[in-house]
Amino acid sequence: MSRKEPLRAVKGMRDILPPDSRLWGHIEQVARDVFHAYAYNEIRTPLVEVTELFARGVGEETDIVTKEMYTWEDRDQQSLTLRPEATASVIRAYIEHQLYNPPGLKKFYYMGPMFRRERPQKGRYRQFFQIGTEAIGSESPALDAEVIEMVVALLSRLHLSGFTLLVNSVGCMECRPVYLAVLREELAKVRERLCADCQRRSETNPLRVFDCKVPADQPAIAQLPTISGSLCAACREHFDRLQRYLQDRRIAFTIEPRLVRGFDYYTRTTFEVVHGALGAQNALLGGGRYDGLTEALGGPRAPGIGFSLGEDRFVLAVQETMANRDSAAEGGLLYIAWLGEEAYRHSAELARELRSRNVAVELAADAGKLKKSLELAARLQARYVLIVGDQELAEGKYPLRDMASGEQRTVSKEELLERFAGARSKVAAER
Ligand code: HAM
Repeated sequence: MSRKEPLRAVKGMRDILPPDSRLWGHIEQVARDVFHAYAYNEIRTPLVEVTELFARGVGEETDIVTKEMYTWEDRDQQSLTLRPEATASVIRAYIEHQLYNPPGLKKFYYMGPMFRRERPQKGRYRQFFQIGTEAIGSESPALDAEVIEMVVALLSRLHLSGFTLLVNSVGCMECRPVYLAVLREELAKVRERLCADCQRRSETNPLRVFDCKVPADQPAIAQLPTISGSLCAACREHFDRLQRYLQDRRIAFTIEPRLVRGFDYYTRTTFEVVHGALGAQNALLGGGRYDGLTEALGGPRAPGIGFSLGEDRFVLAVQETMANRDSAAEGGLLYIAWLGEEAYRHSAELARELRSRNVAVELAADAGKLKKSLELAARLQARYVLIVGDQELAEGKYPLRDMASGEQRTVSKEELLERFAGARSKVAAER
């Protein structure tokens, strides 16, 4: 038989393998804990939506909609798209299920894959994972401050340091048109110095010029007026209050007047967290307010704000800074090595008892010499090895080796349960 070529994952789409997957699980668990503490509940929306949702929600002129979506015509000629982000989907669900009834603030979190057909590079993939939240039903800057506080709490619970929080206000439907008129005028003056995309955007959607990544365009873009000078009194007051609330919380931030972010739905507050360890793709997370989005998608007025963290980039930043290695690996696997059939049957019972109390146990599949067992356990990064042989069975005591220190002591079954399961049950009971 001829040898077959092995198949590979699709370009820009990756497998997340152990031990990294353990860090991913840890991040997701911490995120859930933080979100629950801020009274958010999980929402799960489909990976596939009708294309029009993103055209109307994210914006026809955005890079995402013009260049990056995976869109196809389904067998019934309906145009479908793999979600490039989740905010539009959450708002669609909010409207579809009339979650605005009864009235009040509704808070959702989600985590899962998003799809954008970008050029893959470090920190940029075609399938990537986001962890995000959306709070719908209030336009108060107190909510914006709370969302940003939650983001900072999440990063610090995950021991990430060295990040910078950027904030801006992109105005509202009242003051934006005034600014856009000024911007159009200025863009007309530098039109021939801009790339073809920016020349088009200058007329169709001038704010999107700020998303341009073409190096040759940057000097001209840097000279353009920013929206800060054109904010109406209400937007200025909203932004001032947000800054005050952040200062009250002792949250450090930098105002970045060019932070317009690549979506048409943003109004007023936009924010991003960037991290130096990430290189060119330095945005770890981004978010903002979208006070007109529910109406754009056919629902009632319901202002909201949310953010999404790029989980792939978060993992990269953590690995670069090594800050989280220990907490991710703190599973403390217990490896049970046995010698002989009787010892195996006894070990299997012991393993079942420990596992039922949530202790992570690897039970050797084959009998092994002690040296070989220790090698196997080390390869699995087991923290402890328990050795069960005939003598141990007769005495009811087993040698327990701490693989980190090399120390070995003898423990009875009761001591073992107390040491591993006892400590854990106590923690679980205190929760
Ligand atoms: P976004 O800025 O497009 O915002 O994405 C949020 C984060 O997802 C980025 O900061 C980045 O970490 C990550 N990300 C984006 N594209 C990629 C990629 N190709 N590869 C790896 N990571 C990526 C949103 O998606 C909005 N829905 C955020 C939001 C929620 N605004 C309000 N609510």
